[in-house]
Amino acid sequence: MYKVFGVIGDPVSHSLSPVMHNSAFRELGLKAVYGAFQVKKENLKSAVEGIRALNIGGVSVTIPHKESIFHFLDEVDEVAQKIGAVNTIINKEGKLIGYNTDWLGVLKAFEEKGVSLKEKRVVILGAGGASRAVVFAVKAGLAKEIYILNRTFEKALKLAEDFGVIPLPWEDLNKAEGDIIIQTTSIGLKSQESPVSQEILKRFKIAMDIVYLPLHTQFLKLAKEYCQIIDGLRMLLYQGVEQFKLFTGMSPPVKLMEKVLYEEVK
Ligand code: ATR
Repeated sequence: MYKVFGVIGDPVSHSLSPVMHNSAFRELGLKAVYGAFQVKKENLKSAVEGIRALNIGGVSVTIPHKESIFHFLDEVDEVAQKIGAVNTIINKEGKLIGYNTDWLGVLKAFEEKGVSLKEKRVVILGAGGASRAVVFAVKAGLAKEIYILNRTFEKALKLAEDFGVIPLPWEDLNKAEGDIIIQTTSIGLKSQESPVSQEILKRFKIAMDIVYLPLHTQFLKLAKEYCQIIDGLRMLLYQGVEQFKLFTGMSPPVKLMEKVLYEEVK
């Protein structure tokens, strides 16, 4: 019997998780299949009940459910609780347990490039759901100073309160400087624009974008001349690797997953 996995979100049709996980299942000869389920906010509760009823093995959770899904789970592991977001659910004999692998994806994306976060000054743009895992990862990497800039200042304040980082108003972008800049807003995704000019990007050594469609966002294109860049697929890949381990208890073929992801965005 095939075991079923999937991603729940809205929108979800653009998700690259199905090709990533299905290629890994196939390569390892596992009887498992991964689909994409579009779940509207108002249907989240019944969708979670459906995971139990259909005995789905596990799901990835994406926009806009990463925070609201908490209420419907039987258990949430300690790290996901600290982050305040769940991106993975495992069905353990009918008990649904929430985890977060996004932050591990961020850490690994830096680690593979040989970039240490330790003692660094890090500027993070955006204070949405995705930003929380980024902030948690940067803190775990022992950065020295972490600044959060967000269009809606109240949300930056809330993040600052939850994680002990420094909130700054969006207008202060012009003054931003540091070692590493991480772009977590949805600006590049929606408009092909960069939230920061090249003048500002010049002041950093490393620039990471978590948006991966397009792969080379305007932010990364501008940064490339002056910074080492880290594209959004790195985080997606490595959060997926950790997720696969939770789903199956096995290590996935990382190189194959990487190859299919980059082919998809070509
Ligand atoms: P995600 O889960 O991907 O983080 P989100 O929670 O909707 O999605 O967050 C989107 C982020 O992009 C927020 O930080 C948002 O800023 P606000 O909190 O002010 O809404 C930011 N964002 C989106 N469009 C933006 C724009 N045009 N200018 C500045 N920030 C923008």
